[in-house]
Amino acid sequence: MSSPLPVGILVSGSGTNLQAIIDQQESGDLPIDIKIVISNVEAVLALQRAQRHGIDTRYISHKSFASRLAFDIELTRVLEKYRVELVVLAGFMRLLSSDFVAHWKHRLINVHPSILPAFPGLHAQRQAIDYGAKLSGCSVFFVDEGMDTGSSIIQAAVPVLSDDTEESLSERILREEHRILPQAIRWIAEGAIRIEGRRIYTPENNSEVN
Ligand code: GAR
Repeated sequence: MSSPLPVGILVSGSGTNLQAIIDQQESGDLPIDIKIVISNVEAVLALQRAQRHGIDTRYISHKSFASRLAFDIELTRVLEKYRVELVVLAGFMRLLSSDFVAHWKHRLINVHPSILPAFPGLHAQRQAIDYGAKLSGCSVFFVDEGMDTGSSIIQAAVPVLSDDTEESLSERILREEHRILPQAIRWIAEGAIRIEGRRIYTPENNSEVN
C-alpha cells in the first residue's frame, strides 16, 4: 500500500469542513496524513478542532506582513517545512497571490458554497437567495488565478426553499460540503483524477478513470 498523502489545511473560521476531513481520516476512509492546519485568524474554532486531534497548528496573521505576497511566501515556507503535497482551503477567507497559486498548481483545492460559476466570492448563499435561485449547492475545485474560477472536481446541488434564510441554506449546503470535500481529497490521494486542460476526469464522471 502506498503511503498516505501529506496534506496541509488552511482555515479562517469554524472548521466544520476540517472536522469532516479529520473524521474520515480517523475512520480509515481517507489515505492522508494531516501535517499542519494554518489559520490567518487567531483562536478560531478550527484550530481548536485540530489541536483536539493532536494535529500541529499555526496561527499566521496576514496583518504582520507588508504585502499579500510576503504572507503567502511564509505560508509556502511552513507548508514545505511539513512536506505537504496537497493544500486544502477549508473555509480560508483570504485571496492568495498568483505566485502562490502558480507554485501549488494542481496541488491546491478549495470548497465554495455554490455551484460555480454561479455566485462566486463572498456570501454565495445570500447571493443565491437574492437571485431567486431554486437550486444552489457547493463546488470543490482546483484553485487558479481567478476568484473561484478553477476547474471543478466535484459539485453537489441542494434545493433553495422559499422560506430559506442565509443560515438555513448554509447549513443544507454545508452537509454536502462535508461529503464532497473529503471525496475530492480521496480521489487525489488515490491518484484517481486525470487533468486535461480545464477538464477534470474523476471516477464519478468517467468510467475509464480507476
Ligand atoms: C464553507 O461554507 C465554505 O464553503 C466557505 O466557508 C465556509 C467554511 O465553513 N468558503 C468560502 O466561502 C470560500 N470562498 P467551515 O469553517 O465550517 O468549514
